[in-house]
Amino acid sequence: MMGLLSLVMLLWLVAEVMVLGMASGEDGQHDYADALVKSILFFEGQRSGKLPSSQRMKWRKDSALHDGNEIGMDLVGGYYDAGDNVKYNFPMAFSTTMLAWSVLEFGQFMGSELNHAEEAVRWATDYLLKATSISGLVYVQVGNPYEDHNCWQRPEDMDTPRIVYAVNTSRPGSEVSAEIAAALAASSIIFKSSNNLYSEKLLQRAEEVFDFADKYQGSYKDSLGSWVCPFYCDWSGYKDELLWAAAWLHKASNKIEYLNYVVKNIGELESNNKPSEDKYNIKIANNGGYEFGWDNKQAGINVLISSELPLPGASNLSIFQTNANDFVCTILPESPTRSVQYSPGGLLFKPGGSNMQHTTALSFLLLVYARHLNRTNEVVHCGDTTANSDRLTSHVKGQVDYILGNNPMNMSYMVGYGEKFPQRIHHRGSSLPSIDKYPKHIKCKGGTPYYLSHKPNPNLLIGAVVGGPDANDTYPDSRAFFVESEPTTYINAPLVGVLAFFKI
Ligand SMILES: *[C@@H]1O[C@H](CO)[C@@H](O)[C@H](O)[C@H]1NC(C)=O
Ligand SMILES: *[C@@H]1O[C@H](CO)[C@@H](O)[C@H](O)[C@H]1NC(C)=O
Ligand SMILES: *[C@@H]1O[C@H](CO)[C@@H](O)[C@H](O)[C@H]1NC(C)=O
Ligand SMILES: *[C@@H]1O[C@H](CO)[C@@H](O)[C@H](O)[C@H]1NC(C)=O
Ligand SMILES: *[C@@H]1O[C@H](CO)[C@@H](O)[C@H](O)[C@H]1NC(C)=O
Repeated sequence: MMGLLSLVMLLWLVAEVMVLGMASGEDGQHDYADALVKSILFFEGQRSGKLPSSQRMKWRKDSALHDGNEIGMDLVGGYYDAGDNVKYNFPMAFSTTMLAWSVLEFGQFMGSELNHAEEAVRWATDYLLKATSISGLVYVQVGNPYEDHNCWQRPEDMDTPRIVYAVNTSRPGSEVSAEIAAALAASSIIFKSSNNLYSEKLLQRAEEVFDFADKYQGSYKDSLGSWVCPFYCDWSGYKDELLWAAAWLHKASNKIEYLNYVVKNIGELESNNKPSEDKYNIKIANNGGYEFGWDNKQAGINVLISSELPLPGASNLSIFQTNANDFVCTILPESPTRSVQYSPGGLLFKPGGSNMQHTTALSFLLLVYARHLNRTNEVVHCGDTTANSDRLTSHVKGQVDYILGNNPMNMSYMVGYGEKFPQRIHHRGSSLPSIDKYPKHIKCKGGTPYYLSHKPNPNLLIGAVVGGPDANDTYPDSRAFFVESEPTTYINAPLVGVLAFFKI
């Protein structure tokens, strides 16, 4: 009897596995380790400046070697934000904070990739140290964004004006300065054991830059106007970045004054239900005050502080956990207070530009919170539904699996991962022939035929995750559809940590 039952069970299991296997095109499981390697490699493709001999993405070469020259400064290095060649320090700093948080929370699962992840952080922090080397002044952007966007040129050929934009004590920029402080503080923690001197330098600079951001409050939107808007305009105000930076400074320095700063000001964060806009003037829907991305740090502050609870000696911090629980309830599909959408295929979707930035950043926060619930053995109540750590984790895994190929298009949205992936990403360097293949200079408009071509991009920007499909799970795979086809550093940075977790 038992034998027969086991055989039936076995056949049933086999059938089940085969059905699942067919649905996902392979065995239903993803190679998260492979995706992790690639998600980090992507950052090498976004590097600006003098490339080291260890550079693995070989089609990229040195670029923007004279950044800062016009003002007698060295501002070489850092990352291009997306498919263009401007260095926008606001989203660059946010991407750095998220890469550092990925390493902090999930570095223990990264194995041999930990070194590469730390290198990716350091490529940014070395540059951010240059951008903050003069006290009372922060360099916030290199490159005239209008002239840059008007050309389709390789970064290696770029000859548009590399204008340097700065904020100072009379023309402040608290959001960009505070985000840089957050990035430096978060990064200081990951280098504490491997390079204490560097770590201390980062932390000291973070404190100075935060001081500047806090003492001279104002938005770079008002100080620099159309040089930074609509590109990375700060729609949600700068208070959230000040609190975010203070939360990271507390974590990095253990100084209670920074935590007190967050506690004192957390009530002031207006729930801000105005939608944001992205750099192409596309409205981004607002998640009822629980937004998280390069513009708005609110949900991140609450999850970061909650994830450290209980903090011995600290005063009543339950407000952060209450907020973090509310945030979780705005995301989970079964929650009665959900405020994000899901596509028919199951992708977290928010109307606006570059959807995948929301999917990866919100997934990251859910996973950090899932780990907190796991440690403290707590659950989240959303109306009459209850979610535990496993529920949050499985939801995040569903999002990651969608990105990697379990979706109605049966394609991976990460370049170079899986059999079918985006071929015509909106990315100048990837879509133009490499310097190795075509060493002659390609002028501003010389790249237009490549932009218009229907041929696949010649250079694989391995690991790049694109803006992703529309609300109906459809992906056009066209350079002109930049909302869908453009990769960004802030899509990948949180995904690095999430992939490391699922790799185990
Ligand atoms: C700040 O920068 C503006 C130009 O952007 C300049 O006019 C002003 O003098 C600077 N203020 C200080 C205190 O350096
Ligand atoms: C902590 O604050 C929350 C509200 O923010 C309140 O409900 C709770 O009673 C407080 N707990 C203590 C021990 O003060
Ligand atoms: C929760 O803890 C269990 C047991 O230690 C572990 O297997 C699981 O991965 C943890 N989940 C999260 C989200 O940390
Ligand atoms: C995706 O795969 C499923 C199952 O193999 C198939 O039914 C469906 O038609 C495929 N969709 C596309 C767009 O290729
Ligand atoms: C999705 O499909 C619905 C119904 O077919 C249509 O009304 C809507 O415009 C589509 N949305 C997009 C973004 O294509």
